[in-house]
Amino acid sequence: MQERMKIGIIGCGTISGAYFGGAQKTDVLEIKSCADIRMEAAQSVAEKYGCQAASVDELLADEEIELVVNLTIPKAHAEVGLATLEAGKHTYSEKPFSVDIESGQNLLKKAAEKGLRVGCAPDTFLGAGIQTSRKALDEGAIGRPIAGTAFMCGHGHESWHPSPAFYYDVGGGPMLDMGPYYITALVNILGPVKRVAGITTKAFEERIATSDAASGQRIPVKTTTHLTGAIEFANGAIITMIMSFDMWRHSLPCIELYGETGSMQVPDPNGFGGSVRVSAARDGWSDVPLAFPKNARMIGVIDMVRAIQSARPHRVSGALAYHVLEVMLAFDKSSQSGQHAEIESTVERPAPLPPGLEEWEIE
Ligand SMILES: NC(=O)c1ccc[n+]([C@@H]2O[C@H](COP(=O)([O-])OP(=O)(O)OC[C@H]3O[C@@H](n4cnc5c(N)ncnc54)[C@H](O)[C@@H]3O)[C@@H](O)[C@H]2O)c1
Repeated sequence: MQERMKIGIIGCGTISGAYFGGAQKTDVLEIKSCADIRMEAAQSVAEKYGCQAASVDELLADEEIELVVNLTIPKAHAEVGLATLEAGKHTYSEKPFSVDIESGQNLLKKAAEKGLRVGCAPDTFLGAGIQTSRKALDEGAIGRPIAGTAFMCGHGHESWHPSPAFYYDVGGGPMLDMGPYYITALVNILGPVKRVAGITTKAFEERIATSDAASGQRIPVKTTTHLTGAIEFANGAIITMIMSFDMWRHSLPCIELYGETGSMQVPDPNGFGGSVRVSAARDGWSDVPLAFPKNARMIGVIDMVRAIQSARPHRVSGALAYHVLEVMLAFDKSSQSGQHAEIESTVERPAPLPPGLEEWEIE
């Protein structure tokens, strides 16, 4: 039995509770301390979950901490990740990996230089829904994948999030916010992306928050908020995508895949469960039983810790997140240039989970 790896959390906002919750389910790691630029946020989270509150510098200087989970806002991901690597610690960040190509490359380069690991959410593709979808596809449930659709449409997060400004800042928008779930799930199922054709726009120059904590806050929109286009995968499959914060109501499915011999409904990739359904040719939909434990956020960090301990590649990797980042940024790039955007990076599909795992167990 390995000793629990001591980890730190930087960024004690809305999503941090999910990570503290996940940490309580495993004996692979323990959260030693948490930090935030708002010391009061670190103190209140530390008190709630029973760990130490620290400044960011104190946490990074703590020699016992081997890995830092970065739950700051998107614009700060690369800076906090680089500081973590400089301090000699592995880094795992919330999505997106970074907000531009250069800082994403810097993170990968620094990690390689230092011989450290870099990982990045989402880890939802390790959940039962997406693992089962991939298994069904690999076992030939719909034959050779030909096409598909991926839709995430809504009206943004200012109705509920206590500090929603980052969703409309550089590094926000529906693509960098929700695209990681969709594109990571698709890369996990279909493999790497070859090129993207996009048309993107924004419908509103300003948003007005209506959430309790931010009610009335005027938020300038500095990112595109309605992105449409097509992704061509290296295996030839073509996925039609809409990611929008400009639509009030719709009836579009999350992800569907259309293959040579049948079709598949893939569950919401921003969740860990859901139902997978397959139709052979025109037969009609039937459920595919979920073949893996559901799990929840933090399972990606647990995978990374287990991978470090057993010297194997981790599944929720920086290379995967960087490839996904390049694909997401390609929608605006293609829209601005009026041409397809070729994707320069590539990545192998992460290893599938083996059968027979218990909840929160990973090998
Ligand atoms: N809220 C959600 O439902 C949700 C779900 C999944 C993923 N995420 C992702 O998690 C990340 C955080 O989202 P959130 O909703 O918790 O945001 P939040 O604004 O509630 O919390 C972010 C925290 O990071 C701190 N912070 C910002 N810059 C920092 C820095 N340089 N150093 C230290 N602390 C810093 C802020 O003070 C704040 O406490 C984002 O990348 C988001 O995309 C959020």
